[in-house]
Amino acid sequence: MRLQVECFGLRFQNPLGVAAGLDKNADAVDALLALGFGHVEIGTVTPRPQPGNPRPRVWRVPEQGAVINALGFPSAGAEAACARLRQRSERTVVGVNIGKNKDTALERAVEDYEACARALAALGDYLTVNVSSPNTPGLRELQHGEMLAEIVRRTRVAAGADGPPLLVKLAPDLSDAELERIATVAVDAGAAGIVATNTTIARDGLPAQYQEHPGGLSGAPLRARATEVCRRLYRDVGSRVPIVGVGGIASADDVLERVRAGASLVQLYTAFIFRGPGMAGQLVRDLSAAADREGWRSVSELVGVDA
Ligand SMILES: Cc1cc2nc3c(=O)[nH]c(=O)nc-3n(C[C@H](O)[C@H](O)[C@H](O)COP(=O)(O)O)c2cc1C
Repeated sequence: MRLQVECFGLRFQNPLGVAAGLDKNADAVDALLALGFGHVEIGTVTPRPQPGNPRPRVWRVPEQGAVINALGFPSAGAEAACARLRQRSERTVVGVNIGKNKDTALERAVEDYEACARALAALGDYLTVNVSSPNTPGLRELQHGEMLAEIVRRTRVAAGADGPPLLVKLAPDLSDAELERIATVAVDAGAAGIVATNTTIARDGLPAQYQEHPGGLSGAPLRARATEVCRRLYRDVGSRVPIVGVGGIASADDVLERVRAGASLVQLYTAFIFRGPGMAGQLVRDLSAAADREGWRSVSELVGVDA
């Protein structure tokens, strides 16, 4: 009970979720939930199937607990994701992260988000508009200006009047002023939450051989920046919508730090790569132990206390 979270009108068994990219095509949702995660964000799903970038496209940086990926949205497409989601045995929380096909022109990107929303709205508990992956040329430009407001508005319409809440996932490589403006635009246009953050194009502190790698960096080197972005967004829009904190989370202490910085929910991916399937259950047990030790009755009472 202490770990349960109510957010976007949904009930989560605990605040810890699987970040987008691990289960791109909804192949393993029930298994991931059985490991102890409170939710899974599948995707990024693109409207049409596409192969992603040529291999190699994922590199481990084990000495830093980090990964660099340049996958470029390999996706079986929206129809395949629908078919998989229809086979699910139970209804725990599954979010659907949606994106554009590589060969869709940026000016027409909104049509791809609409197509995904039309196909998947009925099968996801929430949708996340991904405008922040570094591996689809131009995608992150969609965070700026009028494009984002239009994408949020039209994707919500495409999801239907009773459609699921729509979240927007942002990059960590934005200035404070950009973060405030972009988050405000998203929320004004109807976003029900912000997911922060995606991978970074920064390479600070990485060994020389990784400096020139293409792609997005995730894991421990992202943690401080992602926490800072979460704190900023909580101050900017936290009174209007919940923040989902992602980036470098690997322990119960990391989860609680992110919650105190303003995250109502958290997600992880890279730590799971290094630590394996037992880690979700371990983190949930560690969170319960922290509640005993620190005396809090609900994780929600900690949200934003250090923002
Ligand atoms: C191999 C890999 C693939 C990813 N694919 C996606 C994706 O398809 N869509 C997305 O929004 N984020 C994707 N991400 C980003 C993660 O969802 C997350 O935002 C980021 O990795 C930071 O969290 P972490 O440090 O716990 O990994 C991917 C990350 C990795 C490592």
